[in-house]
Amino acid sequence: MEKRICVIEGDGIGPEVMAQAIKVLDRVAEKFSHKFNYEYRLAGGCAIDKTGCCLPKETLDCVLSTDSTLLGAVGGNKWDSQPANNRPEKALLGIRKAMQVYANLRPQKLYPQLSTPLRADVIADGIDIMIVRELVSGVYFGEHNQCVENGENVAVDIMKYTETEIKRVAKVAFELAEKRSGNLLLVDKANVLATSKLWRKVASEMSANYPNVNLSFMYVDNCAMQIIKNPSKIDVILTENMFGDILSDEASALTSSIGMAGSASLGDGKRGFYEAIHGSAPDIAGQDIANPIGMILSVAMMLKNSFDMQKEAQCVENAVQKFIENGYRTKDILQENTTLVKCSEAGDIICSYI
Ligand code: IPM
Ligand code: MG
Repeated sequence: MEKRICVIEGDGIGPEVMAQAIKVLDRVAEKFSHKFNYEYRLAGGCAIDKTGCCLPKETLDCVLSTDSTLLGAVGGNKWDSQPANNRPEKALLGIRKAMQVYANLRPQKLYPQLSTPLRADVIADGIDIMIVRELVSGVYFGEHNQCVENGENVAVDIMKYTETEIKRVAKVAFELAEKRSGNLLLVDKANVLATSKLWRKVASEMSANYPNVNLSFMYVDNCAMQIIKNPSKIDVILTENMFGDILSDEASALTSSIGMAGSASLGDGKRGFYEAIHGSAPDIAGQDIANPIGMILSVAMMLKNSFDMQKEAQCVENAVQKFIENGYRTKDILQENTTLVKCSEAGDIICSYI
């Protein structure tokens, strides 16, 4: 099979982790006789430096015409003084919105060999959580305003959801729950927010169509606590944009390092947007010490979700597992009696297992 992939390396450690992901794709192409054509484009801080604009039109054109997009990471203090509409993060949000990838899948799985800050008895049954985060609406995309009222500064951020926006992402979560344990947890703040009440109404109505799924509800503050106290009891979480952002960072810390987590952002068609959930980590950029596994697992998600390459995806996941089992570690997940490897070495070792 031949596929066109838009590759956005971005800022900070983005290019380093992306280089490993591309190595992995090249190896998959070789082994399974596919052809992946990479089209490199700029977005984020590096795009501001080179073109003045965080999301150049040619990047957006590429994102919307290729079969899928991979993104390393964007952002960094260097661009903090940019106006709000030209910050690196704006590029990320712009791509998500333009692609209409409303369902952001953020699996959080603990490899038993890795250490976690939680007590052994708390994680005895393992951690395997799938967070389904709404990605193109809510407070991220509502009106953001600052003004002066009665002589003082006032700021407003609007959180708005339509029934259609909730339904389409909920459908993804119900279907995932059906394939997993059958438990779906809607996380919200329905004791306070009107949007959350609408989420509950829509999800409750939909649950009649999914007799094999047990839908339950939890307030987001409680969920933040339960993720730490009882992570094994949680399977699929469905939640709105900002709650999903926060809970996914929290959950990733339990699975040893945010560097391990990949993500898939999907819309109506097959085209997807794939990024690790970690940031650009400017403090460690250029040192070849970042963890490329989040990006590599994002590649596996692309193979599975956008290219229907199940075998290939499984092969990449197995290679990552073997890397961990054989005791190789990047700096963020280093433990006693394991072998410290650089980012580029991690890429090579994982490729050698494919
Ligand atoms: C993420 C990031 C982004 C988000 C930022 C960089 C805008 O934190 O992908 O989780 O909040 O969505
Ligand atoms: Mg985040």
